Amino acid sequence: MKTIAVLTSGGDAPGMNAAIRAVTRSALDRGMTVYGVQQGWQGVVDGHFRPLSARDVGGIIHIGGTFLGSARCAEFREDSGRSKALRHLNQRGIEGVVVIGGNGSQTGSFMLNEMGMPVVGIASTIDNDLLGTDITIGADTAINITLEAIDHLRTTGSSHNRAFLVETMGRDCGYLAMMAGLAGGAEVISTPEAEVSAADIAERLHAAYERGKTHAIVVIAEGVKENAAKILAYFAADTRKAGFELRTTVLGHVVRGAPPRAFDRLLGTRLGVGAVQALADGETGVLIGWQKNEVSRVPLRDVVGRTKPMDTALLELGRILAK
Ligand code: F6P
Repeated sequence: MKTIAVLTSGGDAPGMNAAIRAVTRSALDRGMTVYGVQQGWQGVVDGHFRPLSARDVGGIIHIGGTFLGSARCAEFREDSGRSKALRHLNQRGIEGVVVIGGNGSQTGSFMLNEMGMPVVGIASTIDNDLLGTDITIGADTAINITLEAIDHLRTTGSSHNRAFLVETMGRDCGYLAMMAGLAGGAEVISTPEAEVSAADIAERLHAAYERGKTHAIVVIAEGVKENAAKILAYFAADTRKAGFELRTTVLGHVVRGAPPRAFDRLLGTRLGVGAVQALADGETGVLIGWQKNEVSRVPLRDVVGRTKPMDTALLELGRILAK
C-alpha cells in the first residue's frame, strides 16, 4: 500500500492528535504518502484532502481536539454521499483510510470498507462505549478533567455545607459519569443505564446530611431523562429539601476539549501505529483497539451498531462506599 488517508470524525477526543501524528509518521517511515482529510467524513465527501509531512504533525501531541477538524456528517449516511467520497479517494490514488472516531464514525468505516475501499478504524471517544476495546482514546483524560471539577466542587461544598449536582457528557452512555463519580466519592451517580429520580436523589442527600457529611456530590450524565433542569425544579420549592443547599455545574464540552493526559497520548500513539501496521498487513475492515494491555484488531462488522454495556454493578459499589 503506497497512499493512505487519515481522518477524525464525530466528537473530538483528547489524544486524537497523538493518533494522527502516529499514523502519519509511521506511514511515512514505511515510504507511504499520507493525506489528511479535513472535517471528518464531510471532508471526504467534499474532497478536502491535504498531504501530510512529518513537520505538519509536529507540536500537536499535547493539544486536545483534532488539528484535522471533525464533523458529524449526514451526507455520508446516504449512498450518494458515500459514492462521492469513494470517487474523491480513488481520484487521489488512496488505497487505504484510517478513521479515528467513535461508534457513528466506525459505522461509516464499515460501510466504506464494504464498498471496496480498505478502511481501518481507531477507537476514539470520551464515552468509552465502543465494543472491541477495553478503553477508547480520550476517555481517561475526560474522567480526569471531570474528577478535578468534582474535587473542586467538594472543597467549596464543604466550606458552605452545600451539595453539588455535576452534569458531565454522555448522551447515550454513563461511563464517564460513573467512573468520575466513583473516583470522586460521589454520593449519587445517575446514568442513562441506571437513572436515579429526583426524589431518590433528595432522599440520599438527606441521609448523607444526617450522617454528618459537610458536602455531597451528585454526578449525572447528560443523557438522563431526569436531567439537571428537572432535578432543580424538584428542589426549587425548597432548596434545602435534602438538608444541604443544592447548586449545579454543567461541565459539557470543557471535558472534551482538554489537553490529553499521558495515558491518552500513549494510547493514541500505540493505536495509530497499530492502524498503519494493519493496513500494511492487508488486514482491513477492523477496529484497532486496546485489549488486555495490547493493541487489538476486531472486525468492524462485530462492533458497529451496538454499544459496549456499562458495568452497572460499579454503581452499587459507589453507593456503598459513599456511606
Ligand atoms: O463524542 C461523544 C460526546 O461527547 C458525548 O459524550 C456527548 O453526548 C456528545 O458527544 C455531544 O456531541 P456534540 O458536541 O455534537 O453536541
